Amino acid sequence: MSEGNLKDPIVEQGDEEIRQLQRSMEVLRLKLQESLAMREKIDENRQMLVSSISHDLKTPITSIRGYVEGLLDGVADTPEKQRKYLETISRKAGQLDKMIDDLVFYSRLELDQVPYHFVWTDPVLFLSELVEDARELFGHEGIALDWENQLKESCWIRIDRAQMQRVLANLFDNARKYRKGHQDHVTVTLRDKQEHIIIDIADTGIGIPPESLPYLFDRFFRADSARSKAEGSGLGLAIARQIVEDHKGSIWVRSKEQAGTTFSIALKKEAAWEHKED
Ligand SMILES: Nc1ncnc2c1ncn2[C@@H]1O[C@H](COP(=O)(O)OP(=O)(O)OP(=O)(O)O)[C@@H](O)[C@H]1O
Ligand SMILES: [Mg+2]
Repeated sequence: MSEGNLKDPIVEQGDEEIRQLQRSMEVLRLKLQESLAMREKIDENRQMLVSSISHDLKTPITSIRGYVEGLLDGVADTPEKQRKYLETISRKAGQLDKMIDDLVFYSRLELDQVPYHFVWTDPVLFLSELVEDARELFGHEGIALDWENQLKESCWIRIDRAQMQRVLANLFDNARKYRKGHQDHVTVTLRDKQEHIIIDIADTGIGIPPESLPYLFDRFFRADSARSKAEGSGLGLAIARQIVEDHKGSIWVRSKEQAGTTFSIALKKEAAWEHKED
């Protein structure tokens, strides 16, 4: 064992005292084997993370270099072209910046380093404010937005408002990015389900192919249709799931290609008669 051979089981033989020692050694062997396997899995995971990060960060850098060279070579020979090139460079740099921020935030989430400030919150007030903000974002793009509160009575949820806002901002951003471009409609619904409230965000966008659905909340996952259509790093939903689970809630998706997608979040609620304030 001390030379690293953890494969062969320790056979019990001899006096009872020796057997006891062998039994303990066998437990130790199994534990060591388990922790070694875990370590290998973590290493493998880290390697995958590093290779996908380098790939995803390289894409905007390659394109920035291309446009800078275009400017240096004089390919962009009119002030309009030069401006266009510079605008693209600035956009790609912004994209890189967001990717790095998301990445740092995601790894902090994974290491449990994000401090949550949970406060009792009225879900109706919380959502109506967010929906009003989103109305502006959607208005610019010609996307209609409906908001409906179906709660039968008022209640409280205990959330970190800034983090939950981050989750919903990504869902709104996705509804905007993966729209069809005609008669786009987003509906936000708040409803009861036993001891939970459910927030549904339904769009009439391009939808998600069924084979992609199981991977949607994995970090860096982007469906093929999204890669060509919109910018992003594929971290938004991984971050969303982690935050929702840190609230002991759940998040799921239903989608139909070319028809639309609905994301739902369930959070535990408390009755309103027990007035809560932080
Ligand atoms: N409302 C939606 N309609 C269609 N496809 C969606 C929708 N929301 C998410 N997707 C698919 O799920 C993938 C993962 O979404 P996610 O929010 O994690 O990443 P992203 O939007 O591509 O990038 P990021 O959020 O990091 O900017 C998207 O790339 C897209 O393929
Ligand atoms: Mg997103």
